Amino acid sequence: MKEIKKFPSNFLWGGAVSAHQIEGAYLENGRGLSIADVITAGANGVDRQITEGVVEGEYYPSHEASDFYHRFKEDIQLFKTLGLKAFRTSIAWSRIFPNGDELEPNEAGLQFYDELFDELLNNGIEPVITLSHFEIPYHLYTEYGGFRNKKCIDFFAHYAKVVMERYKDKVKYWMTFNEINNQADGQWPLHVWTNSAVIIGANENKEEVVYQAAINELIASARVVKIGHEINPDFQIGCMMAYVPVYPYSCNPTDIMASVKVNDRRFFYSDVHVRGVIPTYVKKYWKKHDFVIDISDEELEALQMGCVDYIGFSYYMSNAVTTLENVRGQAIPDFPEAKMVKNPYISASDWGWQIDPVGLRYVLNAVYERYQKPLFVVENGFGAYDKITDEGLVHDDYRIDYLKNHIEQMELAINEDGVDVMGYTPWGILDLVSFGSGEMEKRYGMIYVDKDNQGNGSLNRIKKDSFNWYQAVIERNGI
Ligand code: BG6
Repeated sequence: MKEIKKFPSNFLWGGAVSAHQIEGAYLENGRGLSIADVITAGANGVDRQITEGVVEGEYYPSHEASDFYHRFKEDIQLFKTLGLKAFRTSIAWSRIFPNGDELEPNEAGLQFYDELFDELLNNGIEPVITLSHFEIPYHLYTEYGGFRNKKCIDFFAHYAKVVMERYKDKVKYWMTFNEINNQADGQWPLHVWTNSAVIIGANENKEEVVYQAAINELIASARVVKIGHEINPDFQIGCMMAYVPVYPYSCNPTDIMASVKVNDRRFFYSDVHVRGVIPTYVKKYWKKHDFVIDISDEELEALQMGCVDYIGFSYYMSNAVTTLENVRGQAIPDFPEAKMVKNPYISASDWGWQIDPVGLRYVLNAVYERYQKPLFVVENGFGAYDKITDEGLVHDDYRIDYLKNHIEQMELAINEDGVDVMGYTPWGILDLVSFGSGEMEKRYGMIYVDKDNQGNGSLNRIKKDSFNWYQAVIERNGI
């Protein structure tokens, strides 16, 4: 058997979800509508639609999701059996401030997270909390146009202050904006919506709008890091990035350069989060394209005062880019000089996500070398169709293979490369609504939730084979 060395003794083995993908109860106890609640279900290869408010007759998977809101106590018992040391979820902003712009919070919303965090802590599980995971209050879009409007900086800071004060003795690990750099990838409407609550107008320059919204979020994040440290100096406050490394397809120098440039579009966000300054390559880009980005001297200073303590990130796959004309590929929005191509050395999931465990080691090295900050793998996992056998079991050996291969690479990054990794919280520990496709049947969990893409099912929970496997991994600290 291959020898695997131990992980650090305080390594946070956990699981990750987000509020809107599991909680349901979308208008219960004073919760307001969030931007996630107006996204219809799509399908594998079929885009989700953003509707104006909730339209009768449409199916919105977040409204019930996995019903965690009503079942969290029984689910946490399963997490305890699994041996989780950490559980990453988000606070649904609109449970606390239903419209986002109120001065006084909704006490029932605060009470819910008190109960949730108490239940976790009483069962020996550390909460790891994202403040904004694609669930900005919908009213902030209708009234202010989302994060294109600087008022949202104040609303976010106020919300964060309220929850950080309330949970200062219950939550130590925080992250500000989930996968804030998704919107960099060509500005697909769904990503701009979920990151920023922004819809791009027909006559607008979408890149310029996205840069403005992103800058506003980075300022908001920096302000919250500062506020959080004043509330409790022991807080660990991180950013949350989607790291999808884009390799050069060939050793042709123009492919190497295209890879650098495409990756920079995504690194821009962590460069600001970690270093507190806007990188020169972005300033040059704004100038070249005549983008006018509103940022005051005071805001530039705020960026420097709120650098993150660690970098949380998701890792699922890698991509490749080429400038070669004889290779077929897919155009990259706002990046005409190159195209995305399939990597011939790796396979892909049923949703076309390229499976690349070594890419995780690569990312851990690249990011650690770039920033020398602790890293936290807060999402990694395999979305797949699961089948229940006649005996009511789920044999998900493909998921075990995926996770095992990634954990092995993470171990090499820690023990051979010297990367400082705080923990690992694989995505969707409990089956949940897929963000990208809105499906329930793109399953990530180690706990099966009996519900299909149309919303039918008992919502009963079943332990998959991966549950027993991960339980052993945690028990033996990765050996
Ligand atoms: C990340 C998000 O993009 O990846 C999650 O932070 C999301 O919200 C996860 O669910 C997996 O993506 P998908 O589209 O398969 O659900």
